[in-house]
Amino acid sequence: MSDIQRTLVLVKPDGVSRGLSGEVLRRIEAKGYTLVAVELRTADDALLQQHYAEHEGKPFFQPLVDFMKSGPVLAVVAEGHRVIEGFRSLAGTTDPTVAAPGTIRGDLGRDWGLKVTQNLVHGSDSEDSAAREIALWFPSLAR
Ligand code: PPS
Repeated sequence: MSDIQRTLVLVKPDGVSRGLSGEVLRRIEAKGYTLVAVELRTADDALLQQHYAEHEGKPFFQPLVDFMKSGPVLAVVAEGHRVIEGFRSLAGTTDPTVAAPGTIRGDLGRDWGLKVTQNLVHGSDSEDSAAREIALWFPSLAR
């Protein structure tokens, strides 16, 4: 697998409000990936429902959408060989309480006692998801 990949990273509203956007970008760059696009924006229902379409019907779907539109997110496209799995490795597992130390969620996240999992970042989980998500958040980068 030698083709250069792109992935969509989102610093979620909890990460932005805690001032961790720079730290997430620093970790992406320190790992050696290239930043292709970075934009701070507040997402609306339509965008988030498309972004999380595969999770529609799951109990966390609406709380997740509501959380994601509760404040600005930093949308990032990062590039590099195997960046999709590389960023997910940087992020750590979904639940920040048990995510491994050394990861973004493991080092910086925790359970705040709220109904929604606040886990700081999103990263595309496959090449198909990355292409779909990048086209949604950055139409000019669609390919
Ligand atoms: S699943 O069902 O195995 O596909 O779920 P998972 O891959 O772990 O998570 C999918 C996305 O849903 C988010 N998630 C949640 N958000 C809020 N509250 C709860 N309880 C919850 N459970 C899962 C999880 O962070 C994933 O979102 P992204 O944006 O991809 O990180």
